[in-house]
Amino acid sequence: MTAPVTASATLTGDPTVLRFPSGFRWGTATAAYQIEGAAAEDGRTPSIWDTFSRTPGKVRNGDTGDIAADHYHRMHEDVALMRRLGLTDYRFSIAWPRVQPTGRGPAVQKGLDFYRRLADALLDAGIRPVATLYHWDLPQELEDAGGWPERETARRFADYAALVADALGDRIGTWTTLNEPWCAAFLGYGNGVHAPGRTSPADSLRAAHHLNLAHGSAVRVLRDALPPTAHVSLTLNLHALRPLTRSAGDLDAVRRIDAVANRVFLDPVFHGRLPEDLVRDTAAVTDWSFVRDGDLAVCATPIDSLGINYYSPTVVAAGRSESPSPWAGAERHVRFLPAPGPRTAMDWPVDADGLYELLVRLRDDLPGLPLMVTENGAAYDDYADPSGEVRDPERIAYLHSHLTAVHRAIEEGADVRGYFLWSLLDNFEWAYGYSKRFGIVHVDFATQRRTPKQSAGWYADVVARNGIEA
Ligand code: NOJ
Repeated sequence: MTAPVTASATLTGDPTVLRFPSGFRWGTATAAYQIEGAAAEDGRTPSIWDTFSRTPGKVRNGDTGDIAADHYHRMHEDVALMRRLGLTDYRFSIAWPRVQPTGRGPAVQKGLDFYRRLADALLDAGIRPVATLYHWDLPQELEDAGGWPERETARRFADYAALVADALGDRIGTWTTLNEPWCAAFLGYGNGVHAPGRTSPADSLRAAHHLNLAHGSAVRVLRDALPPTAHVSLTLNLHALRPLTRSAGDLDAVRRIDAVANRVFLDPVFHGRLPEDLVRDTAAVTDWSFVRDGDLAVCATPIDSLGINYYSPTVVAAGRSESPSPWAGAERHVRFLPAPGPRTAMDWPVDADGLYELLVRLRDDLPGLPLMVTENGAAYDDYADPSGEVRDPERIAYLHSHLTAVHRAIEEGADVRGYFLWSLLDNFEWAYGYSKRFGIVHVDFATQRRTPKQSAGWYADVVARNGIEA
């Protein structure tokens, strides 16, 4: 492998800095339900996550997003923090139940106004707003009508996309339809660890298809509603898969998980087809008759870039795993193994090579398509020391190694245009509630006091010099 240090040194003349391409976008990322709070204000109604988090036993400590990081009321303070960090971009999500509470009908102006104010505050601070339309908070009424396994939900999503684009398209230039549809489909309807908590392999596959259809339908609507300069994207949590050995059984385990975790989205969205092996593997679960003529062409409506969220790799081998699982039957042929090495507070292995591997795979599989790392980061058990400082050297090391991996992929031809650190603030980490802290800004949830961690200062330096230490 070429040493990126040498390559960069030629570019920058400074062998101690790995410089990123000029114009590289440096951001942080958040999601509405994880930070906003104000769950019942200004006309917002429950989403599936409000319902799920109130269901005993679903979220650690019974935590909910009712208050979260109170960002709805502290948005200006949070934008000021980002300005101090010198960020060029900020990725946030729009809460569907805040702007179209029942998932049908006209928009609630107060809900839209919040995002209008947020976009304006960002623009004033010189930060580009990057809006995600769906980060898992489906209006509860749409779930009651069947949720993502039903085709109608995709139609509803396209209507919602039109309404938001009409209202905010004049100030937001970068749009993402869905965040991590794999989690929405397979954790939400497959193993039930996420809202709405259903456990049906058939429903998880139906949900995946309708999310792809929702994505493609929304892209069409966005192209109509937005100016031609608008940038439209999709964010996937692609799985970086490693076989335990090179045996045929272990390689087949990789193929099966790649089909149900990665190609179930990549193939419809970029090639307008279903993965044939997935259809074969899941024949006992579904006949896929919910895919109608013309659907796949809609799914494949061209987009301007692909967002990748990456945290850690997955090691698989031939074997058998427990059900309910998020693998739609593949668990009967596959076992999952702990990857070696250090771990974050999520117990996720720290392994930056997985990010590099994904980026070069996409360079090869989707030539010409710009990429963005739309999430990457780590949870650690951070606390403020007696002097009030939050020291998080492990997070800095994690970020440094992953940015080195991104740099290496760029040096080797991956067209990566930006990096969004997850997350700006400590927040509601879904089924883990507030027990896991991903922020580079510490939040004391009792007082809502924000304290930038050491990693925030470190990241500000990265942004300022558009590079990292070699
Ligand atoms: C991906 C999700 O998009 C985000 O909501 C979540 O908090 C992070 N991963 C960390 O688990």
